[in-house]
Amino acid sequence: MIYSEERVHFTFEIFKRLERELSSKCNTRFLYTHNFEKVINPRYAKKVPIHRWYILKESYSPYLIEELVKAKVVRMPTKGVLDPFVGAGSTLLGSQWIGTPSIGVDIVPFFCLVSKVKTLWKSYNIKVLKEIYEKVRRLDVEKEPNLGFPTLSTFSRVYDARILRELLVIKEFILDLNKDLELYKDLLKVVLASILEPTSRAKKNGKGLKIVRKGPLEKPKNAFLRKLEEVINDLSVVHYFLRPKYASAKVLNDDARQLGKVPKGETDLVVFSPPYLNTFDYTEVYKLELWFLDFVKSRNEWYELRRKTFRSHNLAKWARTEYWSHEVLNKIEDYLRKQELWCEEIPIIVRGYFDDMYLTLKALYEVTYDECCVVIIVGNSAYGGIIIPVDLLIMRSALEVGFIPEKLLIVRELGTSSQQLRLLRRDMRKLLRESIIVLRKR
Ligand SMILES: C[S@@+](CC[C@H](N)C(=O)[O-])C[C@H]1O[C@@H](n2cnc3c(N)ncnc32)[C@H](O)[C@@H]1O
Repeated sequence: MIYSEERVHFTFEIFKRLERELSSKCNTRFLYTHNFEKVINPRYAKKVPIHRWYILKESYSPYLIEELVKAKVVRMPTKGVLDPFVGAGSTLLGSQWIGTPSIGVDIVPFFCLVSKVKTLWKSYNIKVLKEIYEKVRRLDVEKEPNLGFPTLSTFSRVYDARILRELLVIKEFILDLNKDLELYKDLLKVVLASILEPTSRAKKNGKGLKIVRKGPLEKPKNAFLRKLEEVINDLSVVHYFLRPKYASAKVLNDDARQLGKVPKGETDLVVFSPPYLNTFDYTEVYKLELWFLDFVKSRNEWYELRRKTFRSHNLAKWARTEYWSHEVLNKIEDYLRKQELWCEEIPIIVRGYFDDMYLTLKALYEVTYDECCVVIIVGNSAYGGIIIPVDLLIMRSALEVGFIPEKLLIVRELGTSSQQLRLLRRDMRKLLRESIIVLRKR
């Protein structure tokens, strides 16, 4: 199947309609820029000291905030920065490095741990870490672990039993460390999490794990020691050479749609990247980490956590809701209902996604300071041969909540599955973009 004129027309019409509405109602500006390409691209995030201890495939760079301030997209925050989808802590590290206190929220406890561990960089003593390194070096990983294998069957598919035993011995070593090393236990858990994928046969691939190797690349103990060296190295670089500014950072395991644990009036800048409308579920993609580190211990717990995630995927059953409505969104839903899609829940997910975003924006409006600026990094999506203007719809719903959609910085084109690409006319692909939305609270 190739593109149809009807879909092309539909797509351009809904984009134009929303752009016209935003420009006329609040003078929104639409700008093309390559300026932020590096700082929002995960490829570069991988190179930043401390941040690289563990990043998500979707993480941006901590330098994003500094770049936004330098380019005068936002004013220097003085009260505090908030990220309601903190992931691997990019916003929090970036806030620390410009000297502003910050709060990060995530529904997935494992990501809360990652963010907490990174933002404690100033508290780690390199000498203690070197002692731990020596202990791991002497650790007998041939012995039988006392801990049992995780019950999730994926583990037996992606690991050789010998490798899994070695990983368990390392886990046991971490859990058995003295109470006075509590701070380091968390750090070591993140180090352990970071080697789960490279020591397995699988690779994170789009929506889940894909078996890509016959044998593991590296033995867990070697991989763990190598990562620990990286941690020690990064801490030396940051403590003695880069010496960035420092400010407190708090991490809360909470739901972005409620933000019940976030104190009010402490935030004058919000920066975040929500789950994209791409049917990826974080509790699936990061299941090895969640299960191995005991964040979920049963399928029930796993599903419970999944149910609390943003409605951007089809791995949970969602009911249709309609908290926010707009003619364009209604048209998209009607259109999708008439298509033969690979998953029949897509129309419900699309609706749920914008409802969840609306709830998040409302919650943000409640907790932020007047004049607060909100920066959202988001990508558009393609379903059924049309492109969904995720960026414009978010801006339109933000207007309803009370934010002024000031500008949309269009940064780069995104890819999609080859099936979807075939359905898109060449000139439609530029609408499949990653953008930076800038809102201001009025
Ligand atoms: C695109 S990632 C954020 C990446 C982050 N900006 C970074 O640089 O690492 C989206 C995050 O949203 C989180 N999330 C999903 N549903 C959520 C919810 N209901 N409340 C809060 N966080 C949620 C996911 O766990 C994931 O960490």
